[in-house]
Amino acid sequence: MIESLRAGLLQWFANHARDLPWRRTRDPYAIMVAEVMLQQTQVDRVIPKYQAFLATFPTIEALAAAPTADVIRLWAGLGYNRRAVNLQRAAQVIVAQHGGKVPDSVAALRTLPGIGPYTAGAIACFAFERDVAFLDTNIRRVVRRLCVGPDHLAAVADSVLLAHAEALIPPGQGWAWNQAIMELGALVCTAVSPTCWRCPLRQYCRAYAAAVAADTALAEMMTTPALKRVAEPRPAEPFVGSRRWYRGRIIAALRALPAGTALPLFELGRQVRPDFAADHEQWLLQLVHDLARDGLLVITEQGVRLPA
Ligand code: ADE
Repeated sequence: MIESLRAGLLQWFANHARDLPWRRTRDPYAIMVAEVMLQQTQVDRVIPKYQAFLATFPTIEALAAAPTADVIRLWAGLGYNRRAVNLQRAAQVIVAQHGGKVPDSVAALRTLPGIGPYTAGAIACFAFERDVAFLDTNIRRVVRRLCVGPDHLAAVADSVLLAHAEALIPPGQGWAWNQAIMELGALVCTAVSPTCWRCPLRQYCRAYAAAVAADTALAEMMTTPALKRVAEPRPAEPFVGSRRWYRGRIIAALRALPAGTALPLFELGRQVRPDFAADHEQWLLQLVHDLARDGLLVITEQGVRLPA
């Protein structure tokens, strides 16, 4: 049964996979760039940035040697700018300590700045074709529905899901398998309103079986508000006005300056909030210090600027 389940998904992937640029390469550096970008940003937004990034920094040595300001500038539009700084730091460690070769083991990858369990697994698998399991939002959801059950069951530990994910991998085909399971989560087994009728894993799926067994029509099961609520646990956070939003505004203001120029704090304050006044100074200083600590800007006597 596991063989036909695996064959079913791999066949579906062969027929339906999107042609994504990072699926056409095994260059570990390019894969690392893609996976860091994809950590928190949608595929459609990543594609042009991925291409521009590799055109500007074609090798890991080029990225390691670049002015950090250039890396942060290129990151515009992707959000979570700290990833840009960490990606460059990872490149610098790889050049200094690994002879410019991206490590191929999950353990060594994990020691790099900004590389967590997901990204380490994804690089080992997608660049080095290692049969390793890892979880991102899509894989987590697919494995959970397939191996555990409907979304409204109690929380399941990642360690449990990871064990399931590992057991599913067809030996020697981890690359295609992990791409396929991600693709299924992106295109079919979506958080809200999954289209089970076109899922190649339907006949093996615990969540689908539970939905069919329940006394309600499947279509209704998959779209009831109650299920939608659990399927999408993230509450709509007010993003505008949040700390992260202001961090992004500050970096955007600094990006707009000519290279090497600093912006006086008061001027920066006025640019990020029109109502900027003296009693906002402490608030701004805290944000600026945190960004400096994260390597995203430097504080000088003239004001703040992107790191050289
Ligand atoms: N998200 C993260 N990694 C991905 C990949 N390799 N393909 C599609 N979406 C992804």
